[in-house]
Amino acid sequence: MNLSVQLAPKHQKGLLLTNPVMTASGTFGYGTEYSHLFDIQRLGAIVCKGTTLKPREGNLQPRLAETASGLLNSIGLQNIGVKALIEEKAPLWASWRVPVIVNIAGETIDDYAQLASQLDGVAGISAIEVNIGCPNVKAGGAEFGANPKSAAEVTTAVKAATSLPVLVKLTPNTTKIAEVAIAVAGAGADAISLINTLKGMIIDIAKRRPLLGSLSGGLSGPAIKPVALYMVYEVAGAVDVPIVGCGGITTASDAIEFIMAGASAVQVGTASFANPRAPLDILEGIAQFMEKEGVASLTDLIGVARG
Ligand SMILES: Cc1cc2nc3c(=O)[nH]c(=O)nc-3n(C[C@H](O)[C@H](O)[C@H](O)COP(=O)(O)O)c2cc1C
Repeated sequence: MNLSVQLAPKHQKGLLLTNPVMTASGTFGYGTEYSHLFDIQRLGAIVCKGTTLKPREGNLQPRLAETASGLLNSIGLQNIGVKALIEEKAPLWASWRVPVIVNIAGETIDDYAQLASQLDGVAGISAIEVNIGCPNVKAGGAEFGANPKSAAEVTTAVKAATSLPVLVKLTPNTTKIAEVAIAVAGAGADAISLINTLKGMIIDIAKRRPLLGSLSGGLSGPAIKPVALYMVYEVAGAVDVPIVGCGGITTASDAIEFIMAGASAVQVGTASFANPRAPLDILEGIAQFMEKEGVASLTDLIGVARG
């Protein structure tokens, strides 16, 4: 059985994964946090926590709350910063078999370009995932990814600053996700991942105030799966670059739905908090499904539900 998948077919170096199961940024740390729990080298790829130019403390507590079938978070990109990532994390990654993809976040286009240029050529880093769901400070706080023009500008700047394959991660907090996808693909994105979290809120009725320290947060987990799946279906029909599906994937059958909708690979996020082995369980379940159905190559399943 062949589970391998090429996520950057038009890129000089490419991004060949041995299988389609990746971790989602912000839910798997730097990989090291989970390495004592199972053999993380068996995964298709690890995407690390969102990385910014300077270290960040993140938002005020509380920053996490459970919802019906979901999780609301307002971590606020707490991370060690790109310098520490290059000095302290990448050398270890360089000895790993599993490729590591660095997720980056910025407040200006120049932040993204600087991050991409600093990560270029660092051993242990196989690709960059660009989180365009961050507030664009210069445009008054609207997310870069809400608008095709700013999404394309970020993509162009990152592509110009790095020789690594570039995945652009879309936000669902827009009415124009297919237009944004077309714009970032046109600007040279090697692959597109989607979706990031959906904006949400909880009110503590005893305190009569929003529960999260930063008022609103991002919803993830099974509650968002149908939304994510439809967006993957829509985007896969709009662009011809590989799609990485993400949002509420908890079981192998969830992952297979995303692949059948047109995703070449999947990311597992919130599910890892309840079951740290979830990415591996999902990988094993996909292999079992393929065996049972007599599917020789994962690529034979990509987009089959599209008719
Ligand atoms: C606690 C937490 C932190 C996250 N941090 C990031 C991040 O730093 N960068 C990013 O692009 N996405 C981040 N995400 C979004 C996830 O990578 C993923 O897109 C989203 O949670 C949907 O997938 P899921 O339902 O499987 O969790 C975070 C999600 C959670 C729950």
